[in-house]
Amino acid sequence: MKFSWVLLVCTAALAGAADLDCPLPGGPDTASEETCALYSACLWSGDRCLLAEDIGYQLDGPPLVIHTGYEAYLERRRPEATVFGGDVDRLHVLAVEYDDHRLGVSFRDANADRYEVPVPLDVPPLPTDPNYPVYDMSLSTDGEFELSVQHSGAEVLRMLPQFVYSDQFIEATFVLAGSDVYGFGENNHDSFRHDLDVGETWPVFALDRPPGDGVENLYGTHPFFTAIEDDFGHSFGVLFLNSNAMEYRLFRLEDGSTALTFRTTGGILDMCFFFGDSPLEVLRQYYLTIGRPVMPPYWGLGFQLCRYGYTSTDDIRAVRERMKAAQIPQDIQYSDIDYMNVRRDFTIDPRNFSDLPAYVQELREQEEVRFVYIYDPAIAAEFDGGYPSADRGVQSDVFIKWMNASLVPDDQCEGCRDYVVGYVWPESKTLFPDFLKVETVNWWVDEMRRFREISGGADGFWIDMNEPSSFGTNLEKPFNWPDDLPPWSLKCPDTKWDSPPYPTRWVRDPSNESKRLSDHTICMSTVQGNDTHPFLHYDVHNLFGYAEASATRLAMDMLLEGRRGLLVGRSTFPGSGMWTGHWLGDNTARWKDMKRSVVGMLEFNMFGIPYVGADICGFNGASTEELCLRWTQLGAFYPFSRNHNTIGTPAQDPAVWPSVAAAARDALGLRYRLLPYLYTLFWRARAFGEPVVRSLAFQFPTDPALRGVDTQFLWGDGVMVAPILDETSMTSVNVTLPAGKWWDLRDGKLAYSGDITTTFQYHVGMDEMIPVYARAGTILPWQRNETTTAAARRNPFNLSVFGDTAAGELYWDDGESRLAPYLGDFYRSQFWLESGELHMDVLQPRTDLMHQPVLETVLFYGQHQPTAVLVDGEAFEDWSFVEDVLTVRPNLDMATNHTVTLQ
Ligand code: GLC
Repeated sequence: MKFSWVLLVCTAALAGAADLDCPLPGGPDTASEETCALYSACLWSGDRCLLAEDIGYQLDGPPLVIHTGYEAYLERRRPEATVFGGDVDRLHVLAVEYDDHRLGVSFRDANADRYEVPVPLDVPPLPTDPNYPVYDMSLSTDGEFELSVQHSGAEVLRMLPQFVYSDQFIEATFVLAGSDVYGFGENNHDSFRHDLDVGETWPVFALDRPPGDGVENLYGTHPFFTAIEDDFGHSFGVLFLNSNAMEYRLFRLEDGSTALTFRTTGGILDMCFFFGDSPLEVLRQYYLTIGRPVMPPYWGLGFQLCRYGYTSTDDIRAVRERMKAAQIPQDIQYSDIDYMNVRRDFTIDPRNFSDLPAYVQELREQEEVRFVYIYDPAIAAEFDGGYPSADRGVQSDVFIKWMNASLVPDDQCEGCRDYVVGYVWPESKTLFPDFLKVETVNWWVDEMRRFREISGGADGFWIDMNEPSSFGTNLEKPFNWPDDLPPWSLKCPDTKWDSPPYPTRWVRDPSNESKRLSDHTICMSTVQGNDTHPFLHYDVHNLFGYAEASATRLAMDMLLEGRRGLLVGRSTFPGSGMWTGHWLGDNTARWKDMKRSVVGMLEFNMFGIPYVGADICGFNGASTEELCLRWTQLGAFYPFSRNHNTIGTPAQDPAVWPSVAAAARDALGLRYRLLPYLYTLFWRARAFGEPVVRSLAFQFPTDPALRGVDTQFLWGDGVMVAPILDETSMTSVNVTLPAGKWWDLRDGKLAYSGDITTTFQYHVGMDEMIPVYARAGTILPWQRNETTTAAARRNPFNLSVFGDTAAGELYWDDGESRLAPYLGDFYRSQFWLESGELHMDVLQPRTDLMHQPVLETVLFYGQHQPTAVLVDGEAFEDWSFVEDVLTVRPNLDMATNHTVTLQ
């Protein structure tokens, strides 16, 4: 038996009691004796309205050991006490030990089915039988119900007694070990590590909400956090598998301990725990559970250019020509909704963009530059031949419907049947495809196929507005409603779904104009999925972007003839990374937004979506030369590196300012040189579940001094970027270098060597590149840079070896075959340096996938000048030692193993 009924706590137990605020719909600031008296589960105490400590649940019979782990039944302690009514009287608790590092604990209504998230987790099938779980848990202390979880001999999570479980409101508070907690989103966090002293309550609900200054839920839904428990770096993570509107608060209890309040408005309480010796091990478990990320095509790692507001194909061409003239690397050009005919999906504007399909082909064939079109889910409600995609959608019945006929508003639109109708970009009202239906997926694939035939065959897909966004809901009219039409908007009914008792903090946010859950989206009282067992949109709202990404990836797999293609999407859920990357949405051209993009990038690398980046130079507002320069340098190290700008603002592509163009050439030059390394990291993410971009806290978890650093980041474990993020010190940067040796990749000089973590200040002139370092122990594979990845891929390979003992590897395929990583259609070799011998060990000799399978040079950093160099045991002359860098030019055939010996 691996579970203990009675917890044997080896170290100090976590706090077991605390005052917790009653979940007042108006927020804690609205607490008064009168409002508090409305809720029988709440008590007025001093000047706070608190959840009574004697509510919650008690054991109904002893917990049982069962084949999967453990189970128990709970009953309410005070059946008459309630917050919002509809309390579940009897709960079934099920603990499942999936394996040695993963544990599931779920709470369900013992007497009735409730909605459960239809997103599968990749966990071993039941029954499970782990060998040596690194965790332990109990459901009872002294015969009372109490969830307690232990890891590495210490209690790491304990649930407090004030547990509310009702029809539309579930709340649980947990005390956590340590005080370094990361994750939860999608929010615009100012810091990567949560500020427990501020103790903000953050909403989680998919919304077309640009990252602003408030406490907003943004586009995606990621109820997952990781906590570092101790100074050794032991860590655990928890996924709350729930897709209703949620909120969370990370804060300190009065005794200083760390607490988390999780609230959701439906579904079940379903927790999946991940345990590791380090945060990266936790993330590995998480990636494996939600699905490992799809690899981008190699060209998807090149620089990408976009804007909203190109006026014609010639306008796009002019920008591209400007990029070429300035010799700025570019692999991808985009078109936003401007290309569409009256902003309808799957159409091309015949006036200004009729020649775009030909340009798409020209770019690919003559310049090796790929093209990406945007697609929005909202479909213009124009029928009877006016817009065939909509007609075909109606024929296949693909759109989201009202819950029942009585809710269909009289003023919807002709031919809109019982579909919910909103307003987005097209110049007419819109319908919303229900991607949870097979018919919709088939229709979407077919529309994509038809469009592909007329649009020049772009291999990149950008799916936007998929929260889903709908403008002006519940207001008088959308902001972009035509002036010549009488005002109209989608108005949501006053049902229990559209007016839930606790609509989460999002509804109180100043940016929520209508003060309703459905603000800026569609109504919750609508249904999706199979007609006989429909889902409420209320429950599956947060899955819209996930389902659309899955359908779009299927379309790509069917249409791209074996190529992988590129997919980038806005709204995501755990598991979305299997299909799509993500950009961080409509930021503003402000230094603050640039700084926060590092936090966003680190968080999405936690969420299993490592292909991520922000709109470089800022989307909203006019960028400045200085900001755009520093942002271009930072953005050169976003895994997804795209400059994007909104309509009506001045151009900000890097060729606009000579200084920014120079910065782009430098920074993107280094990026393009390092792409073989970055691509290998993406392969490792897919193959082994390793995040591509890492915080210092996660890479060096045994150094508590690094837990709060979020102004720097690493690519893998070998390269660290220290961007300039601050307007007040535009020409200097404070760099924290962990113990060890670090080389500055700008000049190849040793930047630091020491046994302790140190912080330096560097001057970085506006004409200088931001510092990028390589860590001792790293071997970086690279190629000479060019202005496209296609050209760079034709160059021979090189290695840079840092320190006395080092290791690295190269994964290489044709750059875009979809199945290459799965079928073994790739080249792979490993390198290591030990006792003066560099070994190259070929694991998969597919050099036919390389243009020049030649290892041209090997650069050694941190070596003394050798007296002799041997290659494969033979004396070798072509080497030099200049300014502490040993350069050997062996021109080795990469199909076979080699040794370079330094004597
Ligand atoms: C949304 C997108 C933005 C795009 C715009 C027009 O705001 O987030 O990237 O440019 O719509 O399509």
